[in-house]
Amino acid sequence: MKTRHRWIPLLVVAALAGVVAAAFAVYLMWEQAIAPTTPPSASSSDRELVRHGARVVALGDCAVCHTAKGGKPYAGGLALATPFGTIYTTNITPDPDTGIGTWSLEAFTRAMRRGISRDGHQLYPAFPYVHYTRMSDNDIAAAYAFLMERDPVSAKAPDNALIFPLNFRPLVAFWNVLFLREGPEAPDVSRDATWNRGRELVNGLGHCAACHTPLNPIGGEQWNKAFHGGVVDGWEAPPLNALASPPNPWTKPQLMAYLRTGISSHHGAAAGPMLPVTQELGTAPQEDVDAIATYLLSLQKPQARDLAQSDPAGADKASIQRGAVLFSAACAACHGDKSPMQSLGERPSLATSTAVHAATPRNTVQMMLEGVPWQGEQALHYMPPFAHTLNDRQVADIANYLRATYTNQPPWKDVVQAAADIRKGDQSR
Ligand code: HEC
Ligand code: HEC
Ligand code: HEC
Repeated sequence: MKTRHRWIPLLVVAALAGVVAAAFAVYLMWEQAIAPTTPPSASSSDRELVRHGARVVALGDCAVCHTAKGGKPYAGGLALATPFGTIYTTNITPDPDTGIGTWSLEAFTRAMRRGISRDGHQLYPAFPYVHYTRMSDNDIAAAYAFLMERDPVSAKAPDNALIFPLNFRPLVAFWNVLFLREGPEAPDVSRDATWNRGRELVNGLGHCAACHTPLNPIGGEQWNKAFHGGVVDGWEAPPLNALASPPNPWTKPQLMAYLRTGISSHHGAAAGPMLPVTQELGTAPQEDVDAIATYLLSLQKPQARDLAQSDPAGADKASIQRGAVLFSAACAACHGDKSPMQSLGERPSLATSTAVHAATPRNTVQMMLEGVPWQGEQALHYMPPFAHTLNDRQVADIANYLRATYTNQPPWKDVVQAAADIRKGDQSR
């Protein structure tokens, strides 16, 4: 009996600790609603602020995510595939019922800095508020003024399809404790204004790390591997901290040209998830893109890229030969040395392409499967998709041929399997 009683104080302490922990958890998860307001009238807003807001919203890619395929701009409804299920973007037009028409600037600022919706519910980090939190107050106010002047559209996003327990939104509060560092960064006084603007744009509004930094298993960025490269929508987002390394160093003018036009005569073209980013950056002022390039080039770590020399013994000669035949039939009309496209001069040769030099065949395979999408009359470049024409072995043969012919890098391994996996949407290799 006596020994049993000795446990009672311990149990009481444990129960109290449990209550305190539960109270703390509820405190973390609980957020107040911010009262609805009537949207500011168009005549009341400051024209200069609205114009600046258009730049901010373009640099932040808001329309890229908040517009469904064929849908109205900013009305949401685009499905984002995540390892945890599908999340739909919401309507950020000023519609009072289905959009953000009743949001005050205070509510909007809280969403951008902390990922909390007006009514107090936690937003999922597929909305990159962990980056937007670095925006200046002025940029947030400008984005708000601009969005409040869009045409209101009545559209409700479909319900998310997330795995248990992540379909319980309040859990995001715990994720935020780990991954959200709230607020703008103080300027680094040892650097000039261009560098500081570049850092704010890259880390904040441009959310470049969201794709170019590897994620951990719960979807947080691995800060100790910032800009080491990541995988997004089946494409590799190359490292941004090895841009100045051989075999193919980037210069600032090349970087600016790529960011503004999606194509660099020395490195290749954006065709995957980077394409819409460059389309938005194309509308940004020169000085903002200059700032981004300045900051990126300051991040370079020499020799971060693998400089291994090729080992011809490891190459699959039969595959390369089959690849050569396929290349001359399917690709050489455009990519052959004497093709009209190559003789234009401004076009990247496969000999300098990032995709063909990369450590994994992912983007070369994706390039063949998906091509460069047709962008209408203004199209700068187009490549047809070969997903239905070439099978996995043929894709691999051509990839092996390109690797052996246009680079002195070691051959990729298991490209047939890689092509099959990438076609199925595997993100892991
Ligand atoms: C990578 C895709 C992505 C980008 C880029 C993006 N958003 Fe979103 N945003 C989302 C998703 C997804 C949600 C919905 C999250 C949820 O329901 O939990 C969202 C939600 C929001 C919300 C909350 C709306 C509500 O009703 O609760 C606001 C406000 C918002 N975004 C504003 C913006 C602005 C402004 C920009 C540009 C600076 C932007 N977003 C860029 C994905 C994105
Ligand atoms: C109709 C012309 C056309 C054909 C055919 C074509 N391509 Fe392309 N390809 C392009 C264009 C345009 C680009 C974008 C770069 C540019 O504008 O020069 C590109 C880009 C690429 C890139 C990426 C270069 C980089 O890093 O951006 C690879 C790799 C590539 N093509 C491989 C192939 C292969 C392999 C085939 C045959 C299976 C093929 N292409 C067929 C037009 C073509
Ligand atoms: C939605 C994901 C995404 C975002 C956001 C993003 N990138 Fe990319 N980026 C990619 C992918 C994927 C590629 C590979 C090319 C492609 O998509 O066709 C790429 C390619 C690049 C390249 C070419 C690198 C090389 O070695 O060839 C540069 C430079 C670049 N991005 C810079 C940026 C900057 C600067 C930002 C922020 C303003 C940014 N990216 C934001 C996904 C992204």
